[in-house]
Amino acid sequence: MDPLRTPLCDLLGIEVPIFQAPMASAATPELVAAVSNAGGLGMLPGAYLAAEQLRAEIRAVKKATSKPFAVNLLLHPAMQPPPDPDEVPGPVWSQVLSATNAFRRELGLRVQALRPPRPADLIPEALEVIFTEDVPVLSIGLGQPSAALMARCRERGMKVVAMACTVPDALALVEAGVDVVVAQGGEAGGHRSTWVKRPSVEQAAIGTMVLVPELCAATTVPVVAAGGIAVGSQLAAALALGAAGVHVGTRFLATAESRSTYKDVVVGADSDSTRITDVFSGLHARVVRNRFSEEYSGAVLPPMLQQAATADIRSGGDREFVPLYAGQSVGLIGRVEPAAEVMRALCAEARAALDRLRGSAVP
Ligand SMILES: Cc1cc2nc3c(=O)[nH]c(=O)nc-3n(C[C@H](O)[C@H](O)[C@H](O)COP(=O)(O)O)c2cc1C
Repeated sequence: MDPLRTPLCDLLGIEVPIFQAPMASAATPELVAAVSNAGGLGMLPGAYLAAEQLRAEIRAVKKATSKPFAVNLLLHPAMQPPPDPDEVPGPVWSQVLSATNAFRRELGLRVQALRPPRPADLIPEALEVIFTEDVPVLSIGLGQPSAALMARCRERGMKVVAMACTVPDALALVEAGVDVVVAQGGEAGGHRSTWVKRPSVEQAAIGTMVLVPELCAATTVPVVAAGGIAVGSQLAAALALGAAGVHVGTRFLATAESRSTYKDVVVGADSDSTRITDVFSGLHARVVRNRFSEEYSGAVLPPMLQQAATADIRSGGDREFVPLYAGQSVGLIGRVEPAAEVMRALCAEARAALDRLRGSAVP
């Protein structure tokens, strides 16, 4: 029996228990299809995409694979609908202007005084696209599905996977009826999957090694381990902790199929290069440190508004001022490879690690 064939495989119709994390602005249809074709579950990021763009990306995935895949949305309550800039208190707005105008002066950009326009609410249309395109799996980050959303997924026979960083949040997802919970440990790259922003970066950042067994003990729903996982021995370790699979982001950033603009940063960084900060999006997220993460000082705006209010600063693409979302596993990643090779290596290393353990076990 293949030790990598867990109940998650039967539940989702996949061959190996590996999810490629949906990574907004980095994961392409080619990456999703490559992972699904290699027997895992590719996840297409749907956040921030207009409906027709999302539809085109889903169709590109369907053209490149007949295997199951997921589409991901960020369902943070503060993003549906997006916040109204006019409701930001004056003193908060002044602090944000002072923090961001310091960067503008240095970059030779026009100093700003106006509030950004209210961002568009893309979620209702994105859901319609997901339903009409017969996507097999809905993946949710940063939020909980409503009863109505779960009912619509059920009517279509869709599976629902959702991500949480603490046991109570994960149990709320189980209560909502999701099929699989992704336990996102503090090592993870990108946003902490919470829907209530914690007062400090220390909170909702529990290590994967603690969160996974804690959650496995608390529920019978399959738990998938996320955060810091980039090599096959960690897949074997996750299974030993009780997980039914792994959800891998940062390692897939450094693949040929990813459209990340900072693959070389991922390859070159060590595991102490990252931190959690809210200065890029208003929500806590793990990034490779740069000048913006280290030098921004003062209040931040709610999600979507912080991005909108700093868009001009990022537009030049200078690595010191854009969010380099990535996790602690950057220290384990040595080169850019095709996604199929990453999948092959993860499975081979995990099987070898499990064989080694069996060999050394006392009969
Ligand atoms: C560049 C980047 C973008 C991400 N974007 C999303 C996203 O759009 N939706 C989501 O649910 N999670 C997103 N995540 C978080 C991943 O789903 C996952 O939790 C994380 O990558 C796992 O940790 P790892 O990076 O250590 O493998 C992102 C992560 C990264 C690194």
